[in-house]
Amino acid sequence: MQKENIELSFFRAKLHELSAVDKDLIRSAKQYLLHAYAPYSGFLVGSSILLDNGEIINGSNQENVAYPSGLCAERVALFYAASQYPDIGIKTIAVSAFSKNFDIIDVVSPCGACRQVMAEYEDKQVEPIKVILHSPNDDVLIANKVQDLLPFAFKSPYLRKY
Ligand code: THU
Repeated sequence: MQKENIELSFFRAKLHELSAVDKDLIRSAKQYLLHAYAPYSGFLVGSSILLDNGEIINGSNQENVAYPSGLCAERVALFYAASQYPDIGIKTIAVSAFSKNFDIIDVVSPCGACRQVMAEYEDKQVEPIKVILHSPNDDVLIANKVQDLLPFAFKSPYLRKY
């Protein structure tokens, strides 16, 4: 048996330390979490995507009484971006959350399914996608690529027959 190590990098910051462009994207995610349809969890998530063409695409979580039919904010935004602009790369995705039931004390990290979807688009465009996670007290966590959030993503070569 052989131990292997992987190195991941991420950055913690306060909102005011970010560039104007990143701050704007978070502002947008914060604004769009108010569009969440989350009557079951009371957990509101907004996600905003900056595309290579400068366009910003927004999403919020959409719940359903049949719980698994709902979708996270990140995938709402990612699928909308990919269907509206299939050939435009994604620069950055920002995520912000707010709970009606308790104080969120740290940034909310995207679920595995959302990271897998981010990994797919990062792989497709080759260029890294920056991920910015924002908490209500303006703490921020930044990963400069999705690979740093999901190092063992399922990737398309696994589907190839050799
Ligand atoms: N949720 C998101 O939209 N994004 C995340 O990163 C985590 C969870 C949503 C799904 C569900 O509507 C609610 O938050 C509670 O899990």
